[in-house]
Amino acid sequence: MIKTNAISPFPDQKPGTSGLRKKVPVFQQPGYTEAFIQSVFDSLSGFEGATLVIGGDGRYYNREVIQTAIRMAAGNGFGRVLVGRGGILSTPAASHLIRKNAAFGGLVLSASHNPGGPSEDFGIKYNVANGGPAPEKITDAIFARSQVIDRYLIADFDAVDLDRTGASEAGGMTIEVVDPVADYADLMETLFDFDAIRAFIAGGFRVTFDAMHAVTGPYAREILVRRLGADPDLVINAAPLEDFGGHHPDPNLVHAKALYDTMMGPDAPDFGAASDGDGDRNLIIGKGVFVTPSDSLAMLAANAHLAPGYRDGLKGIARSMPTSGAADRVAEKLGVEMHETPTGWKFFGNLLDAGRCTICGEESAGTGSDHVREKDGLWAVLLWLNILAARQQSVLEIVEDHWAEYGRTYYSRHDYEAVDTDRANQLMNALEQKLDQLAGTEADGLTVERADSFTYHDPIDGSVSRNQGIRIFFDGGSRLVFRLSGTGTSGATLRVYMERHEPDPAHHSQETQDALAPVILAAEALAGIREWTGRDAPTVIT
Ligand code: G1P
Ligand code: ZN
Repeated sequence: MIKTNAISPFPDQKPGTSGLRKKVPVFQQPGYTEAFIQSVFDSLSGFEGATLVIGGDGRYYNREVIQTAIRMAAGNGFGRVLVGRGGILSTPAASHLIRKNAAFGGLVLSASHNPGGPSEDFGIKYNVANGGPAPEKITDAIFARSQVIDRYLIADFDAVDLDRTGASEAGGMTIEVVDPVADYADLMETLFDFDAIRAFIAGGFRVTFDAMHAVTGPYAREILVRRLGADPDLVINAAPLEDFGGHHPDPNLVHAKALYDTMMGPDAPDFGAASDGDGDRNLIIGKGVFVTPSDSLAMLAANAHLAPGYRDGLKGIARSMPTSGAADRVAEKLGVEMHETPTGWKFFGNLLDAGRCTICGEESAGTGSDHVREKDGLWAVLLWLNILAARQQSVLEIVEDHWAEYGRTYYSRHDYEAVDTDRANQLMNALEQKLDQLAGTEADGLTVERADSFTYHDPIDGSVSRNQGIRIFFDGGSRLVFRLSGTGTSGATLRVYMERHEPDPAHHSQETQDALAPVILAAEALAGIREWTGRDAPTVIT
């Protein structure tokens, strides 16, 4: 039986950089989740009888929302849902399932790297038929719909047993509970030389992986341990927990500090990696060397041809605007297109679909390729392992070779989290106001060459995205970017991105913050961060 339930709009259902993210109690308000899911369905057409993929990162409230989403899919006329066993699907695995099954789209339940638990974060993201996040055209429509929604449609049936794989029928719809790992692991085998990686590991190359008690634990056990022979004791925090063990499942130098310390210690394994809540981010650390995500993108792109799936070379490379220019130098050398997009994976979809790029990346620990339409943490780990096995080198050797060839791009991001929203907006407005007058002026020793607010013109569909961050370029090639986060759930987060290219290998072993000191000082001089935020220092430095 299908019920039509009356509902009033919630004013705050605007999807951000990556879907709708709110605290769990916000989603728990009566009708809140239903209103958003219905707004998604109402913004789509033509899904009668079609397949919808549903899964999440296993965080608190995942299972409840999955049951609601299944009933609403039936209520709205979908013909089939595919749901990961235990309600689990990593974001890249969900993307793959959508593509493999020619699904109409998918609901990915995750707040990515944000903490989980009864008073922490939850999120819902809609992905389209290519497996990627819905483009702005759709997210704008969802928000518009959420402002006037007055009812939702839901079928009435018992809760689906999410813990047993197999198909059942309910509400006029087929419900298939599928193994969340198998298809994804098989896809990885088509891209990488598993035999070479297995032999490399068997030969003594030690790999450690921190799943951060989030979704990638089962994936890492299957792929790294079972299929590639990695030491099971070195796959740590592999049991997914609803609250991620009370930690932020964010693979950066702050939240994956233990892994970092291990990798810098005397008995470090040869390769260390971590992934985030929903499995789309990656952190790569070699024995004694941290690889910045921007560098990782460049190094993966430069060496991708060593993996079978990329043997024929790259069609192009894409990076988000705040990501460093390291990959641009690789694209230039390879003679392939380079694209600069706004922050957020959704902007890569069109380029990937049109065959204009093969590898994409963001400075926020996201890398991926055209194998799915999401960034993919384990994919990055496996590509690194494939490259290491093919070159029979250490991470440090690959990094140093790369810098020697292309120069080193020092890069860092300073986050000021949970600052007052009005003050953060005022800081950005004040900067914006003076953009026109900045060229030629000095900022604590650095001369501004040009400054703008980044606008993206999508070369495929012609759409224009404005206000995607403020860029300040200095004489000598350093760059500074300011933007406000679109994923935070409390107050505003100011992100300040700094980079400086250093061609001379004699200067490649500086400490990053020291190498960037002039740019950091210029940021304060230009934006008055201390005054506007009331903070003396960033909350997170990556
Ligand atoms: C952040 C990252 C961005 C990433 C997004 C989703 O968004 O900066 O690169 O795509 O998370 O993982 P932000 O909070 O900066 O809007
Ligand atoms: Zn994520």
